[in-house]
Amino acid sequence: MNSDVLKERIRVPSLRAKVISADAAAEYVTDGMLVGMSGFTLAGGGKGVPHAIARKALANPMKISLYTGASLGNDVDEALSNAHALSHRGPFQTSRTLRNAINRGELMYIDSHLSETAETIIKRGQHMEVAILEAVSITEEGKIIPTTSVGNNEIFAQMADKIIVEINLAYSLTLEGAHDIAYFKRFPDAEPIGIMKPSDRIGDIGIQVPLDKIVGIVITNEMDTPSANLPPDEETEQIAGHLIDYFKREIRQGRLTSSLRPLQSGIGTIANAVMSGLRTGPFGHLTMFSEVLQDSTFELIDAGMMDFASATAITLTDEMSHKVFDHFERYKNNVVIRPQRFSNHPGIVQRLGLITINTALEADIYGHINSTHVMGTHMMNGIGGSGDFTHNAHTAVFVTKSVAKDGIISSIVPMVPHVDHTEHDVDILVTEVGLADLRGLAPRERAQTIINNCVTGEFKDMLVDYVREANRRGGQTPHILEEALSWHQRLLETGSMKKHR
Ligand code: COA
Repeated sequence: MNSDVLKERIRVPSLRAKVISADAAAEYVTDGMLVGMSGFTLAGGGKGVPHAIARKALANPMKISLYTGASLGNDVDEALSNAHALSHRGPFQTSRTLRNAINRGELMYIDSHLSETAETIIKRGQHMEVAILEAVSITEEGKIIPTTSVGNNEIFAQMADKIIVEINLAYSLTLEGAHDIAYFKRFPDAEPIGIMKPSDRIGDIGIQVPLDKIVGIVITNEMDTPSANLPPDEETEQIAGHLIDYFKREIRQGRLTSSLRPLQSGIGTIANAVMSGLRTGPFGHLTMFSEVLQDSTFELIDAGMMDFASATAITLTDEMSHKVFDHFERYKNNVVIRPQRFSNHPGIVQRLGLITINTALEADIYGHINSTHVMGTHMMNGIGGSGDFTHNAHTAVFVTKSVAKDGIISSIVPMVPHVDHTEHDVDILVTEVGLADLRGLAPRERAQTIINNCVTGEFKDMLVDYVREANRRGGQTPHILEEALSWHQRLLETGSMKKHR
């Protein structure tokens, strides 16, 4: 490798002698270890060493417990899962291969609030042997500069005995200065955190570690897996339209201004489409305080409608990724990338008064939300940061199409078979049919509002019948217990939630 490039990327001379191959670095990882890895919603994960660990496990069976920021790209979860190299995995994934292995019970999946992942490891007194962190560079002062995400990097670097750094040449040095690496004191010495608006910086540009902790540096040259969000369709545009009308009403009534509140938007096609739809509304000087920035953030920045966006990761489609990262200096004053302990911090979320927009797999008539478990049992992705944001939001919005799988599944059901977010936390529910404003309503009112606004056709008739009989039986939150999960049972037995086909 060109020695000038090496000098630019590793600016502590003594560390250049530590450049090794991915396979040599993988030798530091052995059976039974707890390993922390960079990577958050496909962004900023290692590209070389994780695959070398998978190769090693294929040759000589071994298993590790792997914690990251969130989901990994570049086929890492697939490779590790196919090599049966994982005994435990947390806190989030989006891999079909890994998901299937989890649902077969081949490994234990710890699906946790992303703000709490590292804290839980610390509280349990678990010992992290190795951290594998992707970086654009190591500065003269020995600061590790992350790439497209921070996730849990800074805390894993602190916790681990040994650190392996992957310097990824595919990302330019203009990323230096984009991050805000901070730490907070733990109980009983905890102090207020000084983030009063999304653009506030309270930390350093890189992760400072004792240099002798760095046992190997691996050079890679590969971009993150691009996000695969589908473009907005008619239904996602309708969902965005309903939400924009709601925002306009709130502005007219003086409860919001045209800059709304700082926005958080979850992963996935629907949430991205909704954010994208904001371009058509009468908004300006928007800000984001989110965990992941998708294409829509940069569309809004380019349109002059968004002033600033804070997150822990930037996950983009291929085209947008080149647009943003090949010219990052254009966006550097508009974004900051923080550790997930700060981007998702409940106290900051509450203080900033966020409007949060997350996607539900399904919701029930009272507004309980299932974001994670298909049929209540099978893991989709995980709760991610949706709980960190929803529970503490100024206004917590959930979006979903009213039906899934070509209309055989209703996304609004009598009772969800798994609850990630309770009715107490959910303010607004939106489908392509309409928007249910649930703020301040009692359960019986919530059910009426959801059925009137979010459902249509045969499923609406079925829910009206269900609620009529449930109300007759009584209760604060009425149900027909023997029928509450019958829609899911019917789907299992007949392949559809519909009664008449
Ligand atoms: N029952 C069964 N499957 C359902 C369903 C339901 N009620 N609703 C949707 N699905 C299926 C879809 O058919 C699709 O399946 P496919 O992958 O086989 O095509 C899949 O779930 C994803 O649904 P989609 O409509 O494409 O939505 P999405 O890409 O916006 O993702 C979630 C939706 C809920 C899976 C995703 O947002 C998620 O994982 N959320 C939890 C984490 C989170 O909210 N993080 C927020 C902070 S970043």
